[in-house]
Amino acid sequence: MPLVRATRRVHFSAAHRLFRSDWTDERNAEVFGDCANPSWHGHNYELEVTVEGPVDTETGFVMDLKRLKEALEAQVLSDVDHRNLNSEVEWLAGVNPTAENLAVAIWGRIVHAVPEGVRLAKVVVHETPRNSAEYSGPEENVGP
Ligand code: NI
Repeated sequence: MPLVRATRRVHFSAAHRLFRSDWTDERNAEVFGDCANPSWHGHNYELEVTVEGPVDTETGFVMDLKRLKEALEAQVLSDVDHRNLNSEVEWLAGVNPTAENLAVAIWGRIVHAVPEGVRLAKVVVHETPRNSAEYSGPEENVGP
């Protein structure tokens, strides 16, 4: 049976600041650059979620991407879109909201929305058109 990957891409805008409270402003600025601005700033994020599995013989789908879109809206976008990622999102509390950390957190939000027999293959967070981070799950998440 052919294994195919299918991807849903969604968008959100959000504010954040990258910093460590145990570092000086100078150190934060040195490491996190413009993203350390204490007065916040925003990004237009693109989020790509890829599932992998056999093609269903009835539907021709790996999974109904409308279902994946609905899960992303309910579990992720409704919490993060037009919000402050540092202070307004319960499941990001205490997390420095880098693209890397967002990818891992978003994985945890949607992994259970994937139907049996289908595998969440990767979550990619594009913070800018030039910077992105990709997470393929914990190490045991290999193979179908
Ligand atoms: Ni930033």
